[in-house]
Amino acid sequence: MRALPPIGFAGLGRMGHAMAANILAAGFPLTVWNRSADRAADLVTAGAAAAATPRDLAAASEIVLTSLADPAAVEAVYSGPDGLLAGARPDAILVDCSTVAPDLSRRLGEAASAAGVAFLDAPVAGSVKAATDGTLAVLVGGDRAAFERCAGVFETIGRVAYHLGPVGSGATMKLVSNALLATIVQGMGEAIALGEKAGLDPAAMFAVLGASSAAAPVVNAKAEAVSRRIYRPAAFTIELMKKDLWLALSLANELSVPMPATSAAHGMVAAAGATGKQALDFSAVALLMEEISGLAEAHEIDG
Ligand SMILES: NC(=O)c1ccc[n+]([C@@H]2O[C@H](COP(=O)([O-])OP(=O)(O)OC[C@H]3O[C@@H](n4cnc5c(N)ncnc54)[C@H](OP(=O)(O)O)[C@@H]3O)[C@@H](O)[C@H]2O)c1
Repeated sequence: MRALPPIGFAGLGRMGHAMAANILAAGFPLTVWNRSADRAADLVTAGAAAAATPRDLAAASEIVLTSLADPAAVEAVYSGPDGLLAGARPDAILVDCSTVAPDLSRRLGEAASAAGVAFLDAPVAGSVKAATDGTLAVLVGGDRAAFERCAGVFETIGRVAYHLGPVGSGATMKLVSNALLATIVQGMGEAIALGEKAGLDPAAMFAVLGASSAAAPVVNAKAEAVSRRIYRPAAFTIELMKKDLWLALSLANELSVPMPATSAAHGMVAAAGATGKQALDFSAVALLMEEISGLAEAHEIDG
């Protein structure tokens, strides 16, 4: 039986740390790198090696996964003399699990091709709990043979991996998914604010909604936190959702697709960020709705 390939992981934030821990627990030899080195410490104690730079990480790995905050972070880690592309082995596959614009994925794909290595965009659906449980959905674009070579590692981080087409397809699917998610959560925040101002109890409303066709899984998942106004620790921050909605709207603008509900959701997420909620969970648009409905003066944010 072939030994498990050496894996590299760059970006040990809320998602990346949990994903890397599952890869290590599955027995893959793992090397890690994070801009703030302290976030790698427990993985190193558990048996991972630490690389000094992304370039060193790539040189030590057959498959390199990245989970980075935003496009600027992805550019910083892939490019430059100490970047992943500079160190990648000829047989390597670079797999970006960050949520970024499909255009950036395509540019990275071209740069990887020029360096003679494979590239997959593979953003993930599911939040920190799914990353911890290894039950993410992995949304992949790129060469099918490279996708198949990554099947074993995708199995450790996700319950399912979808091959959606050429490079950029995974990134596109992720923006589609988050546009829908944000509009559902905005709708939830408005509806709950209406009921609350009219005298209903939020927990009672969620109990009714949870048993109705109006409740998408995210409504049930956020019911307790929104009823009790617990928005910390964030699974997925207001700041990251603002980025994703802007990426979705930029793509929509490029393709001339009107997205009125997503535009409104972006405006509310931006307002939540501008009023000090950027590090709270993205469901804190419900708190903003309470505030602008004149309901939140007496509320304190837990956590
Ligand atoms: N959280 C979720 O529920 C969720 C779900 C699906 C997808 N995503 C996506 O997954 C990605 C990671 O999300 P997260 O929640 O794990 O974010 P996070 O906790 O904020 O972690 C961000 C990571 O990016 C690194 N980073 C930021 N700027 C950098 C730079 N300029 N150079 C190098 N590294 C940099 C951070 O390093 P430091 O530790 O040094 O700051 C950290 O490792 C994002 O693209 C997000 O949209 C998140």
